[in-house]
Amino acid sequence: MLITGASRGIGEAAARYFHDAGWCVAATMRAPGESQLAPSNRLNLYEMDVTCAASIEKAIRAAIADHGRIDVVVNNAGLCLLGAHEELTEADDRAIISTNILGTMQVTRALLPHMRATGGGRIVNVSSMCGSMTLPLYSAYCASKWGLEGFSEALSFELRSQGIKVKLVQPGVHRTGSFAGQLSHRANRTPHPSYAAFTNQVLPRLAAFERAAPPPDAVAQAIYKAATERWPRLRYPVRSRAVLTVRRLIPSALFIRAVRRALSAW
Ligand SMILES: NC(=O)c1ccc[n+]([C@@H]2O[C@H](COP(=O)([O-])OP(=O)(O)OC[C@H]3O[C@@H](n4cnc5c(N)ncnc54)[C@H](OP(=O)(O)O)[C@@H]3O)[C@@H](O)[C@H]2O)c1
Repeated sequence: MLITGASRGIGEAAARYFHDAGWCVAATMRAPGESQLAPSNRLNLYEMDVTCAASIEKAIRAAIADHGRIDVVVNNAGLCLLGAHEELTEADDRAIISTNILGTMQVTRALLPHMRATGGGRIVNVSSMCGSMTLPLYSAYCASKWGLEGFSEALSFELRSQGIKVKLVQPGVHRTGSFAGQLSHRANRTPHPSYAAFTNQVLPRLAAFERAAPPPDAVAQAIYKAATERWPRLRYPVRSRAVLTVRRLIPSALFIRAVRRALSAW
């Protein structure tokens, strides 16, 4: 199997989970030299930036040469930035979309000929509960994950004909380095004064959700399940099943009202 963004967080946990389950793992990341993952005869590290086509091609070529076959790809690499739309820049928007959607598309495109030639496989895309609902201060991130959901669902139709299954894992909040990274990115910017009151209400609530969240082990497990189970379902919610079920069942206006209330986002 090959996984992107395995340097930390969910990607690192999933790489370990597959390795411990006896799989050969091609763990890709931007800076393999800084990884805590220890290479072994079943775990190799490769440099891959999912926003760079040449880097994707190079890593995939090397992983296929070393492992012979890649039957599962986990598109996990992701970027999440926190802030009102007017506080993020066009470069921020582009970075989020390039990583979360275009990166997944490009890695998938690069691996499909190999998967078809070797008789099929699975693509597991790590989405988010924010792929089916939204949160304030995450508009670009939500846009990227809604896009990823649409891409993956549409792709699943056509790839069935090629013997390749597509799966979506939808984690709720889990404690990784992501939120700290979002806060430090924000700390380096000048906040927009018009959003100060709103952000001061919402941010402590978001931080409290993150503090109460578990580590990402259950997400790693769900990614493994998505990669291996025979049941033909598309989506695997993790700590998000209840909220996404409510989202589906109640009118959108009611749901949005409930999110506002939970986050003090009036
Ligand atoms: N944590 C949560 O609560 C949560 C909830 C829902 C969904 N998710 C999704 O789960 C995935 C992993 O999240 P996480 O919490 O583990 O995040 P994280 O701790 O911030 O890790 C993100 C990973 O993506 C990598 N990455 C970012 N840009 C990249 C690029 N251009 N090329 C290659 N790798 C890149 C990072 O690599 P570097 O080390 O090089 O920066 C890192 O390995 C993401 O898709 C995220 O949207 C997370």
